[in-house]
Amino acid sequence: MVIDYTRFLSGRVNYVESSPIREIVSKIAKKSREVGVISFAAGEPDPDVIPRKLYAELSRDVYEDKRSVNYSPTEGVFELREEIAVFMKKYEDVESSIENIIVTLGGSQALDLIARLMINPGEVVLTENPSYVNTILNWRQWGAIIVGVKIEEDGIDTYELENIVRNLKNSGKVVKLIYTIPTGQNPSGVTMSIEKRKHLLEIASKYDLLIVEDGAYNYLVYEPVVVKSLKSMDSEGRVIFVGSFSKVLGTGLRIGWLHLPELLAEKFRAAKGPTDMCAPVPSQLLVLQILRRGLFEEIRSKAIAKYKRKRDLMLKAIENHMPNLRHTKPIAGMFILIWLPEYINSWSFAEEALEKYTVALIPAEPFFTDGSGKNVIRLNFSMPPEDVIEEGIKRITILLKEKISK
Ligand SMILES: Cc1ncc(COP(=O)(O)O)c(C=O)c1O
Repeated sequence: MVIDYTRFLSGRVNYVESSPIREIVSKIAKKSREVGVISFAAGEPDPDVIPRKLYAELSRDVYEDKRSVNYSPTEGVFELREEIAVFMKKYEDVESSIENIIVTLGGSQALDLIARLMINPGEVVLTENPSYVNTILNWRQWGAIIVGVKIEEDGIDTYELENIVRNLKNSGKVVKLIYTIPTGQNPSGVTMSIEKRKHLLEIASKYDLLIVEDGAYNYLVYEPVVVKSLKSMDSEGRVIFVGSFSKVLGTGLRIGWLHLPELLAEKFRAAKGPTDMCAPVPSQLLVLQILRRGLFEEIRSKAIAKYKRKRDLMLKAIENHMPNLRHTKPIAGMFILIWLPEYINSWSFAEEALEKYTVALIPAEPFFTDGSGKNVIRLNFSMPPEDVIEEGIKRITILLKEKISK
């Protein structure tokens, strides 16, 4: 007898789309096992920037701590929450008590919890267009309708955002949340200006919305500019802050956090407990050691110096070899977005780049909320070694010229 397993699936599965990027990512992994690939695909720190030997030494202390092999409270190791509260003051200029902090399995779990607890199916969430693909996919799983708002060089178009909110509300839609990655946005690399940050907070206040501020790239800013978090400018308590140590300390640690008003924190804690018990305790204790010994700043400054050089190399190569293409010029984060000529499909472009020229890149279409962006590609500059960046861009240029001359 052949069982039709689809009969056993819940209705929620109708909202589950598999990530379109997965296929290209697994092709990249396969190709990398066969030959050397210049990869501009990942969204991760360079493992050679991370002091792994030091982590190994710290791990001795971690595992000497009896707590390392047991569950921690679901909201995280107490001292780590204390350190995160101090960190929020130092890096985000946000006063907090540990009651506001929940340690999560990366920013990813924080985002999942927000959707799970705050979005009813059919409710609208406003985001930048494009926005982080996993938030889009995850929140759609919880039934959210994602409405993207154009992003400009200095961040989301707040005037368009306001118009859209007004129209949605007038047409009876429920809109509660704005999701934004204001600094070093994924995938665009754009950082929101202070004026737009203020305007966004005004809009949230005027239309009674909450803002989810995803600070995944907040600690990788390459220019001497002051970038204030939305949370630090939030006088009404309208910002939920999602933090992550992934992009500085390593994505594999899986440590992030939520900074929430106490009432919400209570609900989130209750919802989180039965799902994961706690974030991995050895990772929590390792991050605790790093924060206590003041090593975060050391690791971060090295990362910034290195990624800034890599960013400059990539931008220079793009400007030299593909001078006519529109692209972003990030002051933070890990990514540059490039608009290929409209008639070039970024999926086949990425496949050919990998197969013919062994260069990996990500088609950006899945990051767009409205099916646009078919000719847009995302390049990562934090991961590739410095000495291959120009070569990778040259190879992409050769492919581009082939496509243009066809
Ligand atoms: C904007 C953004 N938010 C959140 C995450 C999730 O990262 P993590 O779960 O490792 O903290 C990522 C990872 O790429 C990201 O780009």
